Amino acid sequence: MIEGGTPLEGEIFLHGAKNSALPILAAALLCDGETVLENCPRLTDVFAACRILTHLGCRCVMREHCVTVDVQTLKSHTVPETLMQEMRSSIIFLGAVLGRTGSCRVSYPGGCELGPRPIDMHLEALRKMGVHFSVCGGQLDCTVPSGLHGARIHLPFPSVGATENVLLTAVLASGRTVLHNAAREPEIVDLASFLRSCGARISGDGEGTIIIEGVKKLTGSHYTIMPDRIAGITYLGAAAITGGTVCLRNVHAKPLENVLPALEQTGCRLYPEPDRLHLLAPRRLRAVSSIRTMPHPGFPTDAQAIFMAMLSVADGVSVIEENIFENRYRHVDALVKMGAKIHVSGRIAVVTGVRTLSGAAVAATDLRGGAAMVLAGLGAQGKTEVRQLAHLDRGYEAMETVLQGIGAHIYRTETDE
Ligand code: UD1
Repeated sequence: MIEGGTPLEGEIFLHGAKNSALPILAAALLCDGETVLENCPRLTDVFAACRILTHLGCRCVMREHCVTVDVQTLKSHTVPETLMQEMRSSIIFLGAVLGRTGSCRVSYPGGCELGPRPIDMHLEALRKMGVHFSVCGGQLDCTVPSGLHGARIHLPFPSVGATENVLLTAVLASGRTVLHNAAREPEIVDLASFLRSCGARISGDGEGTIIIEGVKKLTGSHYTIMPDRIAGITYLGAAAITGGTVCLRNVHAKPLENVLPALEQTGCRLYPEPDRLHLLAPRRLRAVSSIRTMPHPGFPTDAQAIFMAMLSVADGVSVIEENIFENRYRHVDALVKMGAKIHVSGRIAVVTGVRTLSGAAVAATDLRGGAAMVLAGLGAQGKTEVRQLAHLDRGYEAMETVLQGIGAHIYRTETDE
């Protein structure tokens, strides 16, 4: 429940990145000895990853924001369908289980709220490294009859998940893997940095070509997960849409470089300091002529819905082009219900800014779409009710408490769903 219209003001300590924590938790499977991960966000997707590790037989304990994983008691190579469905990105366990045990069984991931979620690029890449696949009754059986070996791989598109699966499979494979057209997202660099801290030999992460020299074994390390750049953008957006001011702490400015220019175009002033970022919003945001989501270092698709909420109340007409996911405009109907003027045609959304939105009852459609609705509610006049909070809990740790801390009138009722 949100009572909108109050400019937000204060400091926010950013939690660790979901999209780093998930592949790094999977990567812990590859390590002998204990892995200790600090700054692990307390999110339902992270809890699901921990449950997968536990199911596989690992000891996995989360205390506050620290997760300890010990693989010594590993007993299974199967991730059951119920656990696969809890978290769409569980396909990331494929490479890690294969790298560890040489075989793996997972359920075939279905579609998701962002449209079909194919894994063809993952499978094609792993095939080149010696993995055989068979599908039976919705299960994907993976075996490695003659051992995992390095390969030259060219991804047709720089898929984040496929890049992670190649990294996880290649680090313990024999020989060298060269991955062309790899994803360059900061979370890929975080995964590679963790693997290096365990003894892996990886170079080129963050660039188009990653080279992995397989090693015989990895040893668990003590590692701190990077801050969550998308949660950071969300909270900057919350301050911006209310005409407020916020200081983000525990933030790395570099991974945000692809978004900060667009924020400045809306009229927000930004003051980066080491580990901190201040935002001062104008009384009314300005439209942004063009936002095109692209693989990193382009504008992130995960920030598209957040910006759409902000641009709904900006002065002028903004044009957004979604190029990564087919079905990533499902939040539009909720924003329109709150008074936004948005016209969608295929990949393009034209947003004509209105002076104010008005509160309404809406339901989160997906993680970032739900966040956009919360932002719209914070900027709107009157009361907004956002349902289906399970989507938000996948990626934002105690979002309502964080926002209360900067003056938002927002609370969670027990009657959700
Ligand atoms: C990751 C992020 C997600 C982000 C996305 C794009 C995690 C847990 N999730 O998702 O938040 O929005 O990157 O930055 O890190 N595709 C195929 N075949 C494949 C793989 C992907 O066609 O084998 C397509 C997808 O359908 C999508 C596009 O490629 O249209 C990008 O997907 P990908 O980069 O793989 O995203 P995820 O790893 O799923």
